[in-house]
Amino acid sequence: MRVGRSALRGAPKMIAALGLGLVLTLTACGANSSGGSSGGTAPSAAPAGGGVKVGVILPETDTSARWEGFDKPMLDKAMRAAGLDPDIQNAQGDEQKFSTLADGMISSGVKVLVIASISSDGGSAVAAKAKAQGIPVIDYDRLNLGGTSDYYVSFDNEKVGALQGQGLAQALQSKQGAQVIQIEGAPTDNNATLFYNGQQTVLKPMYDDGRLKLVANQAIDKWDNQVGGQTFEQLLTGNGGKVDGVVAANDGLAGAIVTVLTKYGLNGQVAVTGQDATADGLQAILRGDQYMTVFKPIQEEADATAKLAAALAKGDTATADQTATQTVNDPKGNREVKSVLLTPQLITKDNVKTVTDAGYVKASEICVQATQAACDAAGIK
Ligand code: BGC
Repeated sequence: MRVGRSALRGAPKMIAALGLGLVLTLTACGANSSGGSSGGTAPSAAPAGGGVKVGVILPETDTSARWEGFDKPMLDKAMRAAGLDPDIQNAQGDEQKFSTLADGMISSGVKVLVIASISSDGGSAVAAKAKAQGIPVIDYDRLNLGGTSDYYVSFDNEKVGALQGQGLAQALQSKQGAQVIQIEGAPTDNNATLFYNGQQTVLKPMYDDGRLKLVANQAIDKWDNQVGGQTFEQLLTGNGGKVDGVVAANDGLAGAIVTVLTKYGLNGQVAVTGQDATADGLQAILRGDQYMTVFKPIQEEADATAKLAAALAKGDTATADQTATQTVNDPKGNREVKSVLLTPQLITKDNVKTVTDAGYVKASEICVQATQAACDAAGIK
């Protein structure tokens, strides 16, 4: 097998103030537990002093706790601080909804549109519509291949994959010929391809010289965590219940895989990778059920996006270009896209504290009975 490529707006000030209070509360909780809590359908609070309207569409809730737990509150805060009035919505994995949300934002007069799309095709269609109305578009986290957006803000996603490969290699270093299953993200998300490419820079030479043995490599449509778990279970049983390491492209998939491993009494004996430094992922690391995750400081992603959006809303492309000094290649559109690419960090049991110290996840979210000793040893409190 191989990886597939393939309104409260304008409402009285009192309501606005209440709305703002709600956002502040959510932010203060550092909401990042499993299952995606707040749903993302409530309108964003109106700005304190009336800012420039910016539309933000996030792709999903269920594929990762990051979107509602980190991105939404952090973008909201960063954009308000930059004098913008963000309307942040979540398409809940529904292409039609993604498109309808975009239409609504375009007709409501947003000055900039920020999109983290479900697929490149869906995102590119929205970007083209916005462009026709003279609205600049920022691709957020996921690049729309073959699209027209002028700017892109994300992490170095090949590096994310390379860190996953390194983590796995490190965990399996003393197991010559260790058997590996790779569970990848959605083929319609360019990031999933980049994560895979990054992983292969480390793993392919190890498969080639026999240090590791590839059992199977499977992409999971829509990053569906449940399907990821089921797919993994089939591959595991098909291999006689034998596996030493699993590349899980993010913490959501890792969680589903750990559930399957637990069912077969294998959790803790198999190295599992992850990504997003979610509360569930970090807790699994402290329990010993997951080997690593990748911490992507999303506040930096939100801050860079807010800065770009504020400049573009004023038509100030000079400032935008000074912010987005890197480029990424869009092989489908055969173009270079001006980018901000931030640096991801490898997290294992030894440095989970980095994430709690940075305020992304609270000790109380990850230090439970099963992990308390590990929390104490790591000084997480
Ligand atoms: C993001 C990851 C996330 C995944 C699933 C990717 O595009 O970069 O952080 O885990 O989508 O939502």
